[in-house]
Parts: sequence; C-alpha cells; structure tokens
Amino acid sequence: MKIQMRELVGVLTLLVLQSTPVNTDFVEEIEVCGGAPYYASKYTCYNSDFLCPILGGSPTMRCGADCYSPRAYSCLEDHLQEASLSDSTGQDGSYIRTDESTTLHLSSPPYDNYFYSDCHSTSQMVVTSPLPDSNLTIMGPRVIVAWPGGNSGIAAYFAPSNGVNGTLGIRVLNSTRGSPLGPIYKPESSNNATVGISTQIEFNTSATLSVAILGSIRTIRDFVEGPSLLRPEIQDAIEYSRIDGGIELSRLWLDNITTTTLSITSENFSAQLDNATVRFEAGVYTFNASFNYPQLTQLSSKDVLSPDSADLISQSPMQTTSLSFLSYTTKLTAGAWRFLTYFGRDSMISALLLQPVLSEGEGGAIEAVLAGVLERVNKTDGSACHEETIGDYATWTNLQNNITSTAPLCDYKMIDTDYYLPILMERYLLQTPVGSSRASEFLGTAATVLPKNLNLTYGDLSQINANKIVALAAPFAAPGNQTKENLMHLKNGEVVGEWRDSTYGIGGGRIPFDVNTALVPAALRSIALLSKAGMLDFNSTMINEYAEVWEDRTLEFFEVSVDLEEAQNRLEDYTTASGIKDLKSQADTLDGNVTFYALALDGDSNLSQVAVMNTDDCFRHFLLNTTNQPQLTSSLNSTANNIRRTFPAGLMTDVGMLVANPAYGSDPVYAANWTNSAYHGTVVWSWQLAMMARGLELQLSRCSSGTVPEFCGDQSVHANVKNAYNVLWDSIEANTEYLSNEVWSWIYEDGKFNYIDLGELPPPEGESPTESDIVQLWSLTFLAVARNKDLH
Ligand SMILES: *[C@@H]1O[C@H](CO)[C@@H](O)[C@H](O)[C@H]1NC(C)=O
Ligand SMILES: *[C@@H]1O[C@H](CO)[C@@H](O)[C@H](O)[C@H]1NC(C)=O
Ligand SMILES: *[C@@H]1O[C@H](CO)[C@@H](O)[C@H](O)[C@H]1NC(C)=O
Ligand SMILES: *[C@@H]1O[C@H](CO)[C@@H](O)[C@H](O)[C@H]1NC(C)=O
Ligand SMILES: *[C@@H]1O[C@H](CO)[C@@H](O)[C@H](O)[C@H]1NC(C)=O
Ligand SMILES: *[C@@H]1O[C@H](CO)[C@@H](O)[C@H](O)[C@H]1NC(C)=O
Ligand SMILES: *[C@@H]1O[C@H](CO)[C@@H](O)[C@H](O)[C@H]1NC(C)=O
Ligand SMILES: *[C@@H]1O[C@H](CO)[C@@H](O)[C@H](O)[C@H]1NC(C)=O
Ligand SMILES: *[C@@H]1O[C@H](CO)[C@@H](O)[C@H](O)[C@H]1NC(C)=O
Ligand SMILES: *[C@@H]1O[C@H](CO)[C@@H](O)[C@H](O)[C@H]1NC(C)=O
Ligand SMILES: *[C@@H]1O[C@H](CO)[C@@H](O)[C@H](O)[C@H]1NC(C)=O
Ligand SMILES: *[C@@H]1O[C@H](CO)[C@@H](O)[C@H](O)[C@H]1NC(C)=O
Repeated sequence: MKIQMRELVGVLTLLVLQSTPVNTDFVEEIEVCGGAPYYASKYTCYNSDFLCPILGGSPTMRCGADCYSPRAYSCLEDHLQEASLSDSTGQDGSYIRTDESTTLHLSSPPYDNYFYSDCHSTSQMVVTSPLPDSNLTIMGPRVIVAWPGGNSGIAAYFAPSNGVNGTLGIRVLNSTRGSPLGPIYKPESSNNATVGISTQIEFNTSATLSVAILGSIRTIRDFVEGPSLLRPEIQDAIEYSRIDGGIELSRLWLDNITTTTLSITSENFSAQLDNATVRFEAGVYTFNASFNYPQLTQLSSKDVLSPDSADLISQSPMQTTSLSFLSYTTKLTAGAWRFLTYFGRDSMISALLLQPVLSEGEGGAIEAVLAGVLERVNKTDGSACHEETIGDYATWTNLQNNITSTAPLCDYKMIDTDYYLPILMERYLLQTPVGSSRASEFLGTAATVLPKNLNLTYGDLSQINANKIVALAAPFAAPGNQTKENLMHLKNGEVVGEWRDSTYGIGGGRIPFDVNTALVPAALRSIALLSKAGMLDFNSTMINEYAEVWEDRTLEFFEVSVDLEEAQNRLEDYTTASGIKDLKSQADTLDGNVTFYALALDGDSNLSQVAVMNTDDCFRHFLLNTTNQPQLTSSLNSTANNIRRTFPAGLMTDVGMLVANPAYGSDPVYAANWTNSAYHGTVVWSWQLAMMARGLELQLSRCSSGTVPEFCGDQSVHANVKNAYNVLWDSIEANTEYLSNEVWSWIYEDGKFNYIDLGELPPPEGESPTESDIVQLWSLTFLAVARNKDLH
C-alpha cells in the first residue's frame, strides 16, 4: 500500500471537521504533526512532521515521500521496492506460491477459461480445443492469455502438423506449476516486475505454432474479430529464440520499455525452431506467459462487496469471484477476455444496479467506477469516455497519428455515457452516508490518468460534464421549444450512441428513446440535487424545471399506437414472413390497441419512428419518479402489457423477455434486421431483465410511499403492473442458469422457445460472429437484484 501525501492531507482535514463527538465515552484528542491535525489511533507521525496512516490496525512506514506497508514493500534509500522473494520455490526462483491466490475455472466448450490472481497480478487463460461438431474452418486450437494491466495479452494459434483440422487437441494440466495456473513474478531493479502465469499444456498430436500475437488485446481482437488482420510492425518485432528445453517468443512493445514473453518448454526437448516456424511433438509442455508492465490492484471478493453483503461470497461464489476478477481499485472492467478494461457505460449501469451490495468509501468499488469515468472526461467538451485505449495499442494508435507517445486515448462517440455520471455521483455522494462523508475529499482528488486532465480535480471534471448536459438540455426545456429538433441526437457521422450499439441496434435512428426520455431527465434531477448540496454550480430550481419538461414532454414523440385489427393483421403477416415453423401469431391474445414507444426517431428507410417494441422503458422506471399522472399510468400499463404477452404479440418467451420485437413494424426492413441472431435483435439480455425487474419494483413501491401516484389507485393498471412483475420474475427464475451470460437467444421447436447460445447462430449478413465473454460485468447484477416477496 503506497499512499501519496497529497491524499492524506485531505483525509485529515475531513476527519477533524466531522468529528463533533456525540454520545461517546472516550473522545480522542487531536494531535498535531508538522502543523496538520491528526488522531494517533489513525496515523503515525514521523520526524514530527510526516504522517502515515494506520491501515487495518497496522501502522504504515515512511519511505521518502511515501508511506508503505512492510508486507508489500521495503524501503531502500528512500525508494520503495517490492517485497523480496523470501518464499520463492521452483527451479529458477521466479515462481512464488502464496496462500492468498484466487483461481476460477469456467468451462463453455469449446472454450475453457482459467483465472489466476494474487497480490502481484491477475491473469486469464482461455484454451480452445475444437469439439467434434465445431466448424473447423472458423474454430482452431488456440490459447489466449489476457491481463488487465495495459489491456495486454498473448494469442497463440496452433495447427496439427499433419494438416488435418480437428485432429489437434490442447489440454491444460494440474502440475507443480499450479492447479492448473501458477504465478510468474520476477521483481526487476530497473523496470516493472515481470508477472504472468505458468502452467502445463498437452498436445495430443504433433503441432505447429501457426500464429502468435504478443502485446495488446486490441491487436489480438483485430485479428480474431476482424479480417484476420496482422500488422507487420507488430508481428515482425517478435523474436524467436531457442532456450534451454524449448523456445521463447518475445516482443518489445512500441514503448521500448515493456516486453511480452511466451515460452514453451519440455524436459525432453521436443520443440523445434526453424526460423519462425515452431514444431512440437505430442506431449506435455510448460507454458509460460509474462510481461513487465505496471499492474492494477485487484479488489478481492471481500473488497468489492460491502461488509453487509459478505454472505454473497459463500452464496454465489462463482459470481462474486467473477466480479472480483473484473474489479480493480482504479476501474471496474467490462468483461473477460475481450473487454478486460475500462468501458464507461458498462461500469456505470453495473454500479447503479449493484449499488446495494458494492463496497463504498476510499478504495471501494463505487469510487473505483466514479473515478474511472471522471479521470477520462474530455475536458474540452465534457463528454464521458466510452472505451479507453491503453498500453501498446495506445502507442500504436498515436503512431498512426504521427505522434510518438504512450499516452492513453479515449473514444467519445457514445452520447448516453455522459448522463450516467451525475446519476451515479448523486446516488453515492448524496444518498449514502459513506458517500456523503467522502464527498469533499473525493471531489478534491486530482486526476492522474489522461495527460490533458492532470491539473483538474474530480470536482472540476464533474462540473465540466454537467455543463455539457445542461447546455444540451436547455433548448428543449425553453418555453414553446419542445420540438424534435431540440431532442438529443447521435453525434454526426456515428450510427451508434447508446447501449444498442450494433449496426441494426436502433435501426439507424438518430434520436434514441433511452437517452431522451430517461437519461437526460434523470441526469438533470441529479445535477439539481448535487447543485443544491453545493457539489455542482447550477441554479437547482432551474435545473429541476428543465428536468420536468424532459420527463413530461419527450414520451409523446416516441408513442406508437396500433389499433386492434391492424395489430392483429401485422402479427399474422410477421408470423408468416418470419418463416419460423409453427410459430403462433398470438393475435388472439390482444384485447385492444397495442401501444409502445419507438426505439428511436428518424431511422433507416425514412422511418420517422423506429417502431420496434422494446424494453428501454425500463430506464424510466428504474431512474425516474415521474409526476405526470396520466402519462405514468399509461406508460406503466403499456410496459406491463408488453411484458406479459407472449412474443410476437409481446416480449415474453420461455427463455426470458426479449429486448426487441419488430412484429408491429409494417415495413419488411423490421423483420429482416431484428432477428434472433442479431446482437440487439429478438434476444434476451441479462441486465435488461434486472433493470426492468428493479424498475417495476421501484414504481410499485411508490404506492406505499408518502406521495402515492394515481396508477396505484387504478385497480386494473396496478394489478396489471404487479402481474407483469411476477410474470417477469417467474421467467427470470426459470432461466437462472443463463443469467450470468451477457445475451442469449432461442430457436422455436415443439411449440417452445428453446435456449441457444447467440454465437451458435449464423450472424446477420455483413456481421462477423462474435465470441462472447465468459464473464461480463453487467451480467452479474442479479447479485443485487432479487424478487420482492411482498409483491407476490
Ligand atoms: C463454417 O464456416 C465457414 C466460414 O464462416 C462457412 O462458410 C461454412 O458454411 C461453415 N460450415 C458449416 C458446416 O457451417
Ligand atoms: C483449417 O483451419 C485453418 C485455421 O483455423 C483454416 O484457415 C483452414 O481454412 C481450415 N481448413 C479447412 C479445410 O477447413
Ligand atoms: C486440477 O485440480 C483442481 C483442484 O485443485 C481440480 O478441481 C481439477 O479437476 C483438476 N484438473 C485436472 C485437469 O486434473
Ligand atoms: C513501468 O512502466 C511504465 C509504463 O511503461 C514506465 O513509465 C515506468 O518507467 C516503468 N517503471 C520502471 C521502474 O521502469
Ligand atoms: C522507440 O525507439 C525507436 C527507435 O529508437 C524510436 O524511433 C521510437 O520513437 C521509440 N518509441 C517511443 C515511444 O519512444
Ligand atoms: C530461414 O530463413 C532464411 C532467410 O529467410 C532462409 O534462407 C532459410 O532457408 C530458412 N531456413 C529454414 C530451415 O527454413
Ligand atoms: C474532446 O472534445 C473536443 C471538442 O468536442 C474535440 O475536439 C476533441 O477531439 C475531443 N477529444 C477527443 C480525444 O476525442
Ligand atoms: C503521418 O505522416 C505521413 C508521412 O509524413 C503522412 O503521409 C500521413 O498522412 C500522416 N498521418 C497523419 C494522420 O497525420
Ligand atoms: C489547466 O491547464 C490549462 C493549460 O495547461 C489551462 O488552460 C486551464 O485553465 C488549467 N485549468 C485549471 C483548473 O487550472
Ligand atoms: C429554442 O430552440 C431553438 C432551436 O433549437 C434554439 O435556437 C433556441 O436557442 C432555443 N431557445 C432557448 C431559450 O434555448
Ligand atoms: C433560479 O432559477 C429560478 C427559476 O428559473 C429563478 O426564478 C431564480 O431567480 C433563479 N435564482 C437565481 C439565484 O438566479
Ligand atoms: C387506438 O389507436 C388508434 C390509432 O391507431 C387511435 O386513433 C385510437 O384513438 C386508439 N384508441 C384507444 C382507445 O387508444
């Protein structure tokens, strides 16, 4: 634990200011250290002028200008060193065993995923061995190692030496290295420690290494997901060498500092190297993958959860361990292995849903999410970052712009991410006791990630973000100004901008429903509250007035109402056109007009409304307590109707609630683009189930609050919403085994919608099949979202 003095001073000031003693028998005296007030139970004063905190009951020591825990560091001539390797074992002294390692094995044939972490690093290894029914043209034997540090990794593709695809299998073995993964940790005096994993793998037949990529996960994804792209400037830098008992591949990154190394060795020397062609006989090999780059500090299951939620560790060990593998002190990552780095939307949606169980305070999960987003705000225009580019890929991207720099970069193309930030800030800094007590110190923290933000505090960056939101929201809020033109549009030149960020996600629409009807008003409500508390600088009365206009005057643009007879005709047409054998139209289950809200406005094919029934009304239910009563009553009623009706009449299927239903769109483009194989088509998303369930629960809970909305007194609507809540939960409970997946689909057989992995369906024309992440942050939200038995 290394602590900068700058942060300490903040802690101290706050501690003293808030320490008006109430009802305590023992009041500790405030002492003074070099002019700074402190409590001796919380700090040690060195040389009468230097404070180091006492953490978990153990004092930290001083080393030059830093404080450190002697368990993790030693101090040499005022410089911190990683603790020495007193407990090392293994042949070359580079392997240490620690009792505090965490491992996880998740199998999803043909992929086997192994995770290993300890106090030095975190690694994931994915071994792919084709199954008898795998398509051998696209599925080859492969090993991937992924690290969150620098979003780095290694991909190694193998081919059977006899050239017959399907004959080579790879297996990972338990060995003296680990079960099956063990750590590599080599401290270096003049560079970052080399870390990684060591294991044993077995080839069932002779093999050649066909492609190796060393460096960034983004470079690997460009090869795996793109048109098998290999960049000479990356590939030609791989050095192949013979080492004792085998071969080693190493590549110096474009930063000229970091090296990624892969070695494959065996006791009986059966690996051969001819130039860059590596051959292996069948047998067992030691597989070592390592790199020397600064590491993130992982949050253990205990660290990532609040103390009150610690029981989840034993109740849901797989989910809590997965959450821990994605969570670090400076950011929560979105998924492993492909998205093992910062994504703003994923981390904030997850934090909002998981908030009741996440750890708070300094070093906790919520602050990691908030800090991750604030650090990356574009200070020029206030946009929040969607995805970061770091490590070797950042240096490479800078070079494409003729810039020699390793500085991280950010992608700001999404428009929704901006709005989640004030909402999450308000829910933490204002609505929780720990958050409130941390507010001034947290907002006073200086940014350290993007060079451009270095002189700004988190408070400055949140004001800059809020300035953008308020400036964009003002025109629509002005009297007489509620026009389509004044709604929020996607950025020019972008076809995506919110969570449905695939080609047909919102059908080419320019004006998305979720952003305009839910995220903007919810962000404005939060900005008003933060302003009232003095954390942002706006007239909160005025911002609340804006919010009300955005709450009450946006839905009307998106309303779709199809009268009964027309709706029934469209269902029959869709069912016939879908070509799905024996699919029932469900037309006889309709009893009146079908109403829903369009996914977006101004779509492809000149559609003024993208008339796809969908689940995005969950954002309003989850984030807002709207007060326009007729609108609230009718919108809740239509949500409930759409949830409880079976697809294609509504959204419900045997595998869960679909996120989109194109059946009521009259243009053939709808059925063609929202299919059961499209990422945002007629498919089920775990976190959407969670947000809808929680959203309906929150709205129903208003019926027993101080200000009861009108729908609570409308017996048919109230019963309809309550019924939909229970239909939804029955379906969630029936599909428990899939809830940790990001997205899944169905095939219709024997009169039922049966589960199928989305990756097993051929992708829509023009899209390549995407491998799913075995662990996805926002698919862990059912850790915090549970059925409310009182609503049964
Ligand atoms: C295997 O994948 C290739 C490439 O996508 C495809 O052309 C081929 O039809 C697939 N084979 C089978 C049997 O699905
Ligand atoms: C064998 O696998 C390789 C790599 O996966 C692929 O490029 C090739 O097309 C496959 N050959 C056949 C006949 O499927
Ligand atoms: C490796 O050991 C773990 C327990 O440490 C066990 O669960 C697993 O089945 C073993 N794997 C193999 C391939 O033997
Ligand atoms: C560790 O890596 C970072 C990033 O490449 C580099 O800036 C730093 O100099 C390295 N540290 C040491 C001690 O070499
Ligand atoms: C790395 O070294 C090469 C060769 O000396 C140099 O051209 C390049 O600018 C260096 N890259 C960085 C990021 O310093
Ligand atoms: C290795 O590469 C060199 C130069 O490209 C070539 O002359 C030589 O024949 C290659 N050796 C083998 C064994 O392929
Ligand atoms: C930040 O915003 C400004 C103004 O919109 C834009 O010019 C700049 O390109 C953005 N920065 C990045 C890294 O996208
Ligand atoms: C980088 O420099 C090259 C050579 O001078 C030039 O052709 C290219 O357009 C430049 N690229 C950018 C993005 O400025
Ligand atoms: C940060 O530095 C930039 C120029 O380097 C300056 O324009 C800006 O005003 C500074 N911001 C603050 C809050 O000091
Ligand atoms: C009303 O909308 C127009 C058109 O977008 C805009 O130019 C004007 O500034 C808006 N009025 C106010 C008071 O914001
Ligand atoms: C804040 O806004 C309200 C409503 O727009 C206005 O009546 C009030 O005068 C404003 N307060 C200040 C201090 O500007
Ligand atoms: C039903 O929808 C039609 C438009 O399709 C509309 O004119 C009519 O008012 C609606 N009826 C009800 C009861 O909402």
